[in-house]
Amino acid sequence: MRKKIVAGNWKMNNTLDETKKLIKELKKEIKGVKLKGKRVLIAPTFVNLQPAVKKIKKSKIEVIAQNMHQAKNGAFTGEISADMLTDIGVKTVIIGHSERREYFGETDAILAEKVDAALSNNLEVVFCFGEKWEDRKAGNHFKVIEAQLKNALFHLEAGSFKNIILAYEPVWAIGTGQTASADQAQEMHAFIRSLIEKKYNNETADAISILYGGSVKPNNAEEIFSKPDVDGGLIGGASLKAKDFTAIIKAI
Ligand code: 13P
Repeated sequence: MRKKIVAGNWKMNNTLDETKKLIKELKKEIKGVKLKGKRVLIAPTFVNLQPAVKKIKKSKIEVIAQNMHQAKNGAFTGEISADMLTDIGVKTVIIGHSERREYFGETDAILAEKVDAALSNNLEVVFCFGEKWEDRKAGNHFKVIEAQLKNALFHLEAGSFKNIILAYEPVWAIGTGQTASADQAQEMHAFIRSLIEKKYNNETADAISILYGGSVKPNNAEEIFSKPDVDGGLIGGASLKAKDFTAIIKAI
């Protein structure tokens, strides 16, 4: 059975004090929430990862990173390597977020390298991808998604998918309040699963968790999560409030 996952991408938000406060509130809110078969992940910014890892001890929350560099080490000013993440107890990293693609020029080829570097350092990957509004408007959304997966992931062996979580995040739904409908999410998730089945096999397709991201809020989470191919969510804005994030966790 694939796991249900709710992940909070905090993006460039929260100072150290705010990070500690939010984790404290979250721990309090999720006390008593049944989390069997479910995972709760939070992704604070780099500088707050280590204190966050300390803060979540003895809780079911996992701290994950928002990004990493593909090189092992060296002259890459301002960057963070896989080693540096594992060294402080981070086990999972987000790769391919649309904001990284859009504002930091991360191409499919770079993302393929990042995925390889993460996996070879025993980091689990939350791989993000999604079409832009103009792609959907033109009816190209399935083609775009297929290309994104093919270019960054389909060089991997089936076994590597044990350490990959997929996050379908239509760019037009991120931070806009305009979520994909539950049916649109289901349609795309079923398509993604079928691509994996075609390229690999049924077991791999069936076992992989596919999260939906893009304006998930307490009032729409339950409907989106009710779909059979939606295994959870990657949450931006609503993950910055302990009560809202917990409501979304409960909806899964
Ligand atoms: P919002 O939930 O704020 O739309 O952000 C989604 C997202 O980008 C998560 O990675």
